Amino acid sequence: MIEIDDLTIRFGAGQRPVVRHVGLAVEKGAAFGLVGESGCGKSTVLRAVSGLNPHYEGTIRLNGEPLHRHRDRPFFRRVQMVFQDPYGSLHPRKTIRSQLKEPLRNQGLATGSVDVDALLRSVGLDPALSFRFPHQLSGGQRQRVAIARALVLNPEVLLLDEPTSALDVSVQAEILNLLDDLRKERGLTYLLVSHDLAVVSHMCDRVAIMEAGEIVEQVEIETLRKGAVEHPYSQRLLRASRMYGKGREALA
Ligand SMILES: Nc1ncnc2c1ncn2[C@@H]1O[C@H](COP(=O)(O)OP(=O)(O)OP(=O)(O)O)[C@@H](O)[C@H]1O
Ligand SMILES: [Mg+2]
Repeated sequence: MIEIDDLTIRFGAGQRPVVRHVGLAVEKGAAFGLVGESGCGKSTVLRAVSGLNPHYEGTIRLNGEPLHRHRDRPFFRRVQMVFQDPYGSLHPRKTIRSQLKEPLRNQGLATGSVDVDALLRSVGLDPALSFRFPHQLSGGQRQRVAIARALVLNPEVLLLDEPTSALDVSVQAEILNLLDDLRKERGLTYLLVSHDLAVVSHMCDRVAIMEAGEIVEQVEIETLRKGAVEHPYSQRLLRASRMYGKGREALA
């Protein structure tokens, strides 16, 4: 469904690239995780796929078709993005109902065709919330709205950038389960970026581990769960994540 080939991205001519020769392929209906520590280039990869940054070298294919640097409207019907901070991605002075119609407006489509109530129910929200503004919702509810908005156009692919890292741990699990259910119900394909190995091992079938702009290893999720990663950087990341996991358990 998504193929990235030899992706290199630099900010400014002559600068050292922050993403180097990245390649990965996501099967239709799969959830693929991209992990690595802060600043390694995960969001930069996702932004290139989403069309937010057209300045990249390499090829990105959707369903076998190479994408143009500047994405066209049909692309956004097929591919939608969910960000870490739903506060930042929702308009503060528009009601939820109005924002859920926005993707249709952007496509020049009639807004009457969206069943806002059904959409809200599908993400576990009470349709009565649709007349509220973003600040009148909890963080978890806001992220559910952002997910609902990404689904309005019935896309095939969701690009998820740290979709739960701004949330409290208990709410994180609820949102991850929701995303998991939606993928199965709708046959969606996910490319998920996270610094959290626990999130990726909950959600994904396959994972690429990135260090300083490069993918050092790609494994099936079972390999990660068994701790059988080979690259020294992957092993370090896994050890750090386990220590942090123990810390979290101790606090609970
Ligand atoms: N618009 C930009 N202009 C210049 N440098 C940028 C820009 N966006 C990102 N960078 C740099 O590119 C590198 C990778 O950033 P990126 O946001 O992709 O990291 P990340 O892996 O998503 O990190 P995090 O886990 O903290 O979100 C960083 O060094 C960052 O400072
Ligand atoms: Mg990021």
